[in-house]
Amino acid sequence: MTAQIIDGIAISKHVRTSVAERTRALQQHGVTPGLAVLLVGDNPASQVYVRNKVRACHEVGFHSVLEQYPQTLAEAELLERIAVLNADPSIHGILVQLPLPAHIDEHKVIEAIAPSKDVDGFHVANAGALLTGLPGFLPCTPHGVMKMLESIGYELRGKHAVVIGRSNIVGKPMALLLLQQHATVTICHSATPDLKAMTLQADVLVAAVGKQGLVTADMVKPGAVVIDVGMNRTTEGKLCGDVDYAGVSTVAGWITPVPGGVGPMTITMLLVNTLQAAERSLP
Ligand code: GUN
Repeated sequence: MTAQIIDGIAISKHVRTSVAERTRALQQHGVTPGLAVLLVGDNPASQVYVRNKVRACHEVGFHSVLEQYPQTLAEAELLERIAVLNADPSIHGILVQLPLPAHIDEHKVIEAIAPSKDVDGFHVANAGALLTGLPGFLPCTPHGVMKMLESIGYELRGKHAVVIGRSNIVGKPMALLLLQQHATVTICHSATPDLKAMTLQADVLVAAVGKQGLVTADMVKPGAVVIDVGMNRTTEGKLCGDVDYAGVSTVAGWITPVPGGVGPMTITMLLVNTLQAAERSLP
């Protein structure tokens, strides 16, 4: 079997076209969606991510500002800057790129962002809304994965979804979204004794660990949907995911590539959240 590819670039294009249209409609009401992206320090991967986010904003007609701060920025200064952006009516979304330097308390920073501008969906108010089924901003990566499953018309009810990884950004919200769509969900992590025994049961397998070659063909049920959230660099500097793409493609029914899979969808869902934040700001 050769797996069908779930093309994150093609799905993104489709969604971004609709975001651009809705942006033009919003501008008729005098509102341009605005996103502030804050980066502290000089993590090279983060620099690439934030530049891509800001570029994507401009492509759909948003107003976007990138604020770069030195590694030594004091936590209090960052909190102060967030307070100013919270009060700025031209800014509808605030994104603080993670990870932050060790001297800055990540939780404190995330909780300082107004929940109505938390387009990452990381604030406890939005995380709690997801947990309890209330409306709020959904974290971009798991939201993008759900869009990808929707794009292939996949029915999750009655299926077994296995998520590898339990981060607040991907693993936990991913499991909740799959559960919301009536899948039976298993979360695996570094203390799971027999990972392969779990993954072999998966109709949908989501790998979100950040470890090259974690999922190999012998761990995948024939015909399964395999979603690769990993973003790793090979020793030659090439981008790759957590899934052995060549091997798993011969077993899976559907697979997402890296690059060109989940990555573009994450940015696309950030645009969707920012647009939504701007639409909600209308009187
Ligand atoms: N670092 C890695 N992924 C993300 C993300 O989705 N949002 C933010 N703010 N930081 C990240």
